[in-house]
Amino acid sequence: MKPQINKLKPYQAGKYPAQVKKEYNVDKVVKLSSNENPYGYSPKVQEVVQSLLSSCSSLYPDGSAPELRKVLSDKLCVNENQFIFGSGADEVIQIISRTLLSKGDNIVTTDLTYPQYRHHAIIEGCEVREIPLTDGYFDLDKILDAIDSNTKIVWVCNPNNPTGTYLSEETLLPFLHKVPKETLVVLDEAYYEYICEMQDFPQSIKLLKDFTNILILRTFSKAYGLAAFRIGYAIGNESLIEKFNVAKLPFNTTTFAQAAAIAAIDDQEFLDFCIEQNKVGIQQYESAFRDLNIDFYPTHTNCIFILTNQSNEWFETLIKRGFIVRPYPNGIRITIGTKEQNEEVISILRQMMQYKQTSSF
Ligand SMILES: Cc1ncc(COP(=O)(O)O)c(C=O)c1O
Repeated sequence: MKPQINKLKPYQAGKYPAQVKKEYNVDKVVKLSSNENPYGYSPKVQEVVQSLLSSCSSLYPDGSAPELRKVLSDKLCVNENQFIFGSGADEVIQIISRTLLSKGDNIVTTDLTYPQYRHHAIIEGCEVREIPLTDGYFDLDKILDAIDSNTKIVWVCNPNNPTGTYLSEETLLPFLHKVPKETLVVLDEAYYEYICEMQDFPQSIKLLKDFTNILILRTFSKAYGLAAFRIGYAIGNESLIEKFNVAKLPFNTTTFAQAAAIAAIDDQEFLDFCIEQNKVGIQQYESAFRDLNIDFYPTHTNCIFILTNQSNEWFETLIKRGFIVRPYPNGIRITIGTKEQNEEVISILRQMMQYKQTSSF
């Protein structure tokens, strides 16, 4: 066995609703711990998947996802050979790590970000350099200082999970110019659809023309609501993508996931609805938190991060009332839910804050 496996634990998904119902004796459970879409997915997805089920094909999927590739290539104006698909962006992270990392290499990222970058780097026997966030933001100057000739990948989660904060194009560009050409910069844009309207958000696909060492990671799990189908992708320069294709499993994305993704892209109205509702949810939380003097990071994703050194207490308060959130050592992350779910969470936190105030007198 690889000795480094002993340093890791299997991924902890957090508690599932059935478990919480039983453990906390609550009737209704709302899972706000994995940044899933509270509105599910487009009805067009349902239609397509149902018709596929009734066609009852026993053939393997086409692992290159040719139709989805064509749809995305037209939509994003990127060559068809610039895509690699995975069973979620997670699998793409694994493929990237498996292809590029060996013992003696290092990756650079930050200490409060998506944990799978670190996980796969360790499995590949690689050193992980985690530069602390500065006020919730990637510290690009310090990240540059940490890069050396053994740095194979810099992972930049933009906007960042769990903080929800983002780097503008103006901030990112000088950094990209300074990163050595031999080091790959992965821009993980899992939450892209929630932020792409922001004028100053990097136009990463355009940047691909000037920077051959960047790779963009996206997913259908968030705004498109397809987390259960498992489909994500990366866009990069063709020669790199070709190498990733060597490391990928032959049938890694299912026929259903590929068709679901195409149907989801086809329903702009549903996507717009989800994005709009998410914005309303962010406003609900941010204004309530200001009112309650709760510290949080401004978010541009479908989650919001509360800064507290009593994260276990906050987590327990919410889970006892049936709301599962994600605890971190310095805070909790709450997925933006429906308007009603958000109101309930806010009301529980309001009661908790009021109780804390009165009990300290
Ligand atoms: C930043 C980031 N990248 C990648 C992923 C993985 O997404 P997927 O469901 O496509 O595997 C997530 C999921 O939460 C994420 O937050």
